[in-house]
Amino acid sequence: MRIKKAVIPAAGLGTRVLPASKAMPKEMLPIVDKPAIQYIVEEAVRSGIEDILIITSRGKTTVEDHFDRSPELEERLLRAGKVEIYNEMVAISELANIQYVRQKETKGLGHAVLCAKAFAAGEPFAVLYGDDVILGETPACAELCAAYEKYGIGVAGIKPVPTELVTKYCSLEVEKIEDKLFKVSDMIEKPKPEEMFSNYSILGRVVLPSDIFDILTDLPPGANGEIQLTDAMKILAKREGMIGVEFSGERYDMGNKLGILKAIVQVGLKHPEVGAEFAEYLKTVKL
Ligand code: UTP
Repeated sequence: MRIKKAVIPAAGLGTRVLPASKAMPKEMLPIVDKPAIQYIVEEAVRSGIEDILIITSRGKTTVEDHFDRSPELEERLLRAGKVEIYNEMVAISELANIQYVRQKETKGLGHAVLCAKAFAAGEPFAVLYGDDVILGETPACAELCAAYEKYGIGVAGIKPVPTELVTKYCSLEVEKIEDKLFKVSDMIEKPKPEEMFSNYSILGRVVLPSDIFDILTDLPPGANGEIQLTDAMKILAKREGMIGVEFSGERYDMGNKLGILKAIVQVGLKHPEVGAEFAEYLKTVKL
C-alpha cells in the first residue's frame, strides 16, 4: 500500500532552545534562509506524500502563515520585478495539501500523533518529527515508506548513537535482516544505561499502521509524565514486529543548540549564493 499521508508534530514547547523558541516555534528556526519545517515538508513531498497534517499549538501560527499565500508580499515582489523570488514564494504554498490541528495541551509526542486520528484513520501514514531535519540525496521518508510497502508493518528510521544520547532518546532491540535493514522486536524510551538493548535509536521518522491510534488511546503517561510514542510502538513491535531502516541522510536536531549550529554550517557551505564566501570566512575563524 502506497503511503500518501504524513503527520508532522510541531506542537512542543522547545524548552531546550529557549529563548529562541519563546515567541517563535523552534520548527520555524531558519537553516540559512529556510525554516526547518520547510525542509521537512519538502522531504515528505519528495517521498510521494500528498496530504500533510501539521500538529500545532498556541504560538505556532507562523507555521500556517509560512505555507499560505502572502498576497501583499507577492504583489510587492512582482511590482519590483523580482520574479524568481516571487515564484519561490508561491511555490511554498503549493508544495502539498497541508492541514492543521491543534494539540491543546503538550502532553507528549504520542498524544500529538493521536491528534491525527481523524486525518489518518484506516491507512498507514508517515510521521516526520517537526524538529528533526534530515538532509541527503534520497529522502529518509521515502526509504521508510519503501520498507513499509515491502513488509507491511510499522517502520522506524534508526541510527546508532552514543550511549549518552540513547539515554535521552530510546533504545531498540534489533536483529539485522539485510544491509541497513533490521527487525525491531522491543524498545524502551529514555533507558538507564543498564536497561539499553542497543545503541540503535529512533531518529525523527516513522511509518505506522493506523492501529497505533487504538494503542495510543489507552496508553498511560510514560517517561517525563508524557504520552510517549515509543511506548505505543513498543506494544506494536511486540505484537507484530517493526522494521528499522538505517536511513542514508544526515539528521540535524533543531530542538538542540548544537544541532542548529551543525545544520547551518552544512547547509551554509553548500549554499549556491553564499557557500564559497562562507567557506572562506570559516578558514579565518580562530579556534
Ligand atoms: P521533542 O520532545 O523534541 O519536543 O519532540 P519538545 O517537547 O518541544 O522538546 P523540549 O524538550 O521542550 O526542548 C519532538 C517533536 O514532537 C513535537 C515537537 O514539536 C517536536 O517537533 N511535540 C512534542 C508535539 O507536537 N507535542 C508534544 O506534546 C511534544
